[in-house]
This record gives sequence, structure tokens and C-alpha cells, in this order.
Amino acid sequence: MKYHLITFGCQMNKSDSERIATVLENIGYKETSKINEADLIIVNMCSVRQKAVDRVYGMIKNFNRIKKQNPNLKIILTGCVLLKDKNKFKKWFDLIFDIKDLPKLTKFLTKQQNKQTDDYLSILPAISSPITAYVPIMTGCNNFCAYCVVPYTRGREISRSPKIIIAEIKKLLKDGYKEIILLGQNVNSYQKDDVNFSQLLKMVDNLQGKFWLRFITNHPKDLTDELINTIAECKKVGPYMHLPIQAGNDQILKKMNRHYTVSYYKNLIKKLRKKIQNLSISTDIIVGFPGETKNQFNDTAKLMRSIKFDMAYLAQYSPRPQTLAAKTFKDNVPKEEKKQREEILNEILKKTALKNNEKYIGKIIEVLIIGYDKKNNLYGVTDTFKHILVKFGQKKLPIKIGNFYNVKITQVASWGLEGCFQLLSFRKQ
Ligand code: SAH
Ligand code: SF4
Ligand code: F3S
Repeated sequence: MKYHLITFGCQMNKSDSERIATVLENIGYKETSKINEADLIIVNMCSVRQKAVDRVYGMIKNFNRIKKQNPNLKIILTGCVLLKDKNKFKKWFDLIFDIKDLPKLTKFLTKQQNKQTDDYLSILPAISSPITAYVPIMTGCNNFCAYCVVPYTRGREISRSPKIIIAEIKKLLKDGYKEIILLGQNVNSYQKDDVNFSQLLKMVDNLQGKFWLRFITNHPKDLTDELINTIAECKKVGPYMHLPIQAGNDQILKKMNRHYTVSYYKNLIKKLRKKIQNLSISTDIIVGFPGETKNQFNDTAKLMRSIKFDMAYLAQYSPRPQTLAAKTFKDNVPKEEKKQREEILNEILKKTALKNNEKYIGKIIEVLIIGYDKKNNLYGVTDTFKHILVKFGQKKLPIKIGNFYNVKITQVASWGLEGCFQLLSFRKQ
């Protein structure tokens, strides 16, 4: 029996797909990249923007065609699905299940009970990379940002037990993973068994072995001084921070229900930069939120110029059913205007990212080698979470994927670095 798994959405969804793969492989299914060969198609969807939902509607015709050729084919939908879409999708899918009910998938497919666990996050994922492992520390969200669908698709925030998280990471490190990425919609509000995020981070940081530790994503309102100090002190946490601002204007931030101001955010960045040398910062921004005037948008552009982000994930506002913004405000910024605003921010980002990367030229930095790209170049990642292509100098060294090497930066662009392995500093690992 073969399954074809379609995933889109954030890292949390990708991590969930690795758990879906475990459940299916435990009952004898093998993955296929060819949809026509599949006995089971499973879609793990995202609803954060309408575009993502439309992608699923776009797939249905193809699914129906394949089902005509193979009447035994099962088509299943999971992930972040809104109630309204669930009702519409019902007639095309054999099963729509809430990702929290993943352990029950076994019963649906085999009529046998999954004996292992009822907690879907405790299903050990079939991780797709041998080097990087995503570890969800929580799921859901309590913040109800006015534009956002996540609290409606994933429900309220639930943190996992620190004991279970630590045991899982210990196993991953034993298996040779070198990059551990803790996941949550707002890791800063993690709280379980009297352990907060700052304490959890310290517990992971104290684990034996050489590895890099990252975490996404942070909510500025919950980034405490205690946490900033912990991040600065942790040896395995690199100088990288993803801190979504969403907008650079106080009135828009208030309408978004974000609970902070621009000056508060700027002050956070100041504190972070003071404590953490060479900090690389990324963010999320929405353009064209209802009622966003040209002047209010210009405040966002101004903020981007002043912070000088290394990366920004830009999105055009998309009204989402059930959310406060969709219920209260008219989506009144024209599509063309949203597009233009996004382009303006992208131009600013390209410049600041390039300028930040230029500081790397000539420097020797540590790089974790991840693999080969399509052109057979080795690539890796820096502790500042930058993508890097690494070339051999005059001599070909016996490089091992998953090891850390010193690399001299020779060239940079907005979206990445390029460098050469350092012969002198080459050390056996
Ligand atoms: N928990 C994360 C965000 C998860 S959603 C956080 O608080 O930062 C990922 C990103 O999608 C958001 O940061 C936001 O920039 C974008 N997004 C969410 N809802 C959106 C909407 N309705 N329209 C456009 N972009 C949206
Ligand atoms: Fe959505 Fe806000 Fe929660 Fe992030 S913090 S998932 S943007 S509601
Ligand atoms: Fe992620 Fe999309 Fe759900 S961003 S949490 S998969 S709505």
C-alpha cells in the first residue's frame, strides 16, 4: 500500500506531516511521490491565507480523476481546516480529521486501535532530514490576533511536558541530529509543570553534545528580560531571532490586537542587540490590513529601514472567516495597492539584508553542512540562520554532511552567503 502526502503551511504543519508518515508507515504504508500510484492521498493543509485554501479546492478535480481509475483510493484531509471549509470539503474526502486525532487514523485505515499513544505530539516523527529536527513544544494559540485563523484551526494553547520534550531531544541527539528547532505559535508563552520557556531552553541547552538550538516563533509581547538574558547565556542558541512585528504603526497594531507598540518593539530589538553580538533578526509583516492608509504603511517601511532586518516574511492581508478583523473591518485596500506595498518592503529588505551580509565578507565562521544542492554544491547554515554555499579551496577535503566546519566568506547576496572551507582550521570531528 502506498501513500502520497501533500503538505503546506508552517513548520508546525511540516512537523505534523512527519508524524502522519510515522503512523502510516507503522501500519505498512510506503510513501510515493507519484500521486497516480497512491492507494491513499493525504492532504495536510493550511488556512492562514485564502490562497492556501484555494490550493486544496484546485486539487479536487485531479483527485476525482485518479479516483475514477482507482475506486479503492482513499482521500483524507487534515491540518488547519476551518469549519466552513470542512463542511464544503466533506463530499470529496473519505475522512477529514483533526490533527490532534492522528492516533485514531490507524483505526480508520485498519480497524485496529493504535496502542501506542493518545497524544499525537508524542508520536515520534519520521524526520525527513538527517540533520535538522523540529520539536513541537506546544500547539494552538490563545492570542487571537485579529487577522489570524490559527486559534480557530488549532484551538487553544497546550504545552507539552518538559520531561517528554527533553527525552525526545536526547534521543534525537543520540541519533546524530545537529540542529534542534523548538516549535510553537508563541514559544514565549510555553508553561508546563512549573517550567517556563526560559527554563526549558536552559534544560535543552545543558544537554550533552555539539548541536545548535533554535526556536520559532516569538511574540514580542511575551519576550521578557529573563528570556533575553537566557538566550544570551545559552551556549547552543545562536545569535538569531525571529520576532514578528506585523506592522510598523501603533493604530494598526492595536486593530490587529497585538498588544505592543512600535517603540516597545524597537526597545526589545535594542535590548537584544546589546546582549547578543552579531544578532540576525527576521520578522513577519502583513501589508494592506483593513484601513491601512498610505501614511500608516509608510510607518512600516520606515521601521524596516531603521531595524534593518536580515529576513522578513511579507504577506498581503487576506480576510479569514471567523476572525475579528474579517467580522469587523472591510478588506478595503485594493489588491494592486497591497501588491505594490509588498514590493516596496521587499526592496527595502533586499538592501538591508545585503548590507548585513556584507559584514561577513572575509570573516571565518562556523557552518553546519546540510547537504548538496541541485548543482552539486555543498550548502549549509550559519549560527545566524543564513543559508550558505560552500566551495572547496585548492584542496578537496573529506567533508561529512552533518558536521561543523570553519568557512571563510568570499561572496554575499541578500538571501545568502558563499564561502570556502578553511584548510588551516580544518579539524577532524
Ligand atoms: N504565531 C506566529 C504566526 C503564525 S501565522 C506569530 O504570531 O508570529 C504566520 C504569519 O502569517 C503571520 O505572522 C502573519 O504575518 C501571516 N498571516 C496570518 N494571518 C494572515 C492573514 N489573514 N493575512 C495575511 N497574512 C497573515
Ligand atoms: Fe496567529 Fe497571533 Fe497566534 Fe501568531 S500569535 S498564531 S499571529 S493569533
Ligand atoms: Fe501553520 Fe497554516 Fe495552521 S500557518 S498553524 S498550517 S493555518
